[in-house]
Amino acid sequence: MKHLLLIGLLAATAHIGLHAQTTTNATQNEWTTITNGNLWIDSEGNDVQAHGAGFLKVGDTWYMIGEDRSSSWHPDVNMYSSKDLVNWKFERKIIENKVTHPDLGSKRMIERPKLMYCAKTQQYVVWCHWESSNYAASEAGVFYSNTVNGPYTYHWGGRPLGVKSRDCNVFVDNDGTAYFISTIEENQHLGLFRLSDNYLSAVEYTELFKWKSREAPAIVRVGDTYYMLSSACTGWDPNPCMLSYSKSLTEGWSELKQVGNHIAYDTQAASILTIKGTKQTTHLYVGDRWQDPRLPESKTIIFPISFTSDSCLFDYTRQFDINYTTGEWRPTSTSDRYIDKRQWRVLDCSSAENRQADYAAHYAIDGDIKTMWQTETPKELIEGMRTRDWRRVERMAKSQHRIVVDMGKVNTIKGFLCTPRTDGISLGLIRNYAFFVSEDGKNWEAVSKSHWMPYWTEIDFAPCQARYFMLTSNERRGVSVAEIDVF
Ligand code: GAL
Repeated sequence: MKHLLLIGLLAATAHIGLHAQTTTNATQNEWTTITNGNLWIDSEGNDVQAHGAGFLKVGDTWYMIGEDRSSSWHPDVNMYSSKDLVNWKFERKIIENKVTHPDLGSKRMIERPKLMYCAKTQQYVVWCHWESSNYAASEAGVFYSNTVNGPYTYHWGGRPLGVKSRDCNVFVDNDGTAYFISTIEENQHLGLFRLSDNYLSAVEYTELFKWKSREAPAIVRVGDTYYMLSSACTGWDPNPCMLSYSKSLTEGWSELKQVGNHIAYDTQAASILTIKGTKQTTHLYVGDRWQDPRLPESKTIIFPISFTSDSCLFDYTRQFDINYTTGEWRPTSTSDRYIDKRQWRVLDCSSAENRQADYAAHYAIDGDIKTMWQTETPKELIEGMRTRDWRRVERMAKSQHRIVVDMGKVNTIKGFLCTPRTDGISLGLIRNYAFFVSEDGKNWEAVSKSHWMPYWTEIDFAPCQARYFMLTSNERRGVSVAEIDVF
């Protein structure tokens, strides 16, 4: 019996993989670690493909649905289930090209599917963006099922109340009234559609954020205040996330205010989850890190956010522990993961900006993510930005940027973490990079190199001996780095 239990435990921890450590009993002491930046893997070892995700909690299980971008421009809708938002079981394709509707996979595609439970009809209902390949149809689609994991039946596709509708989400209020909220009339305004009692059709709509071109809306209610996060319309490229709040869904929304940095930490909102614990309620932001680097590798990013009466604390947390019983969360302790930097010194750097502030290279290894190294801003960039001549900016010559660090002694290392600047600006974000190591400071070996450094994510390489490391990049606009850590 004991052996069986042990094997069971081993099997359970085996598929938890890199992403989480959980114990088996739900107790006050159980913490789940959520790590951002990597593609999630399901319990069968496959990529989790559920982009633009929608969530529904049934009992103690989260059901997540989203776009399967693995192979097709026409995504199927996948469903996964999980008790901890880390260990995901693939349930099934709840909406499938050709199978669910003959037009799906050719004349129509689905984006941003969202899931609700209608207590009145005891049905599960999906609303989504129901689109043609050039985004001209501008329609919504509705599906339903008597069981949460489907498969789902097509109910209706079209423009809700005749209104052109694209990026979308749903919101169910405390009294069970459901809403579909979408970007309407050629991405100009947001439409808030109140749904019928059975959640299957729109009965009334209100125009919000007129001419503001908001998309990727996500609403949460905290007490008697509604908070909405949304983005601008820049396709798959990230832009600032904005907050607005109101005491009423249909009127009184506050001015849009940016939260987080200029690119919402390379995400676009998909959902906001509420974790009600015995000690506190925690809200989790769920966003898509699209095209990382291509569409199929888009990542789902989760981090805690919190609301005050008129704002939202929206700080990216790369890795955190959450306790689903108490509702508490904390940044994951990394004290014994990264190599001690007290003996480190910068041997060389390509340049350092010192125009308005000191951005010396040593700030990249001072252990403080609020300070940063920034290379000299190229004159063409300043001129190009001043004259808003973006072509000129794009034509700028590449130049090699580098920072060389002496760690003081030889270490065995197997990866690094490059933390981007945290002052709200995204200029200087490193994408193309090479990471070199050396034992003697003369002979260098490139241990990691790519045109794409994922945002604020650990990069692994084969274990090696090194006393020195060098990070290089030839980003045209220069580079800025808040911190480099090595493990
Ligand atoms: C984004 C939108 C995505 C997808 C994409 C297509 O603006 O949020 O859901 O529609 O455009 O370019």
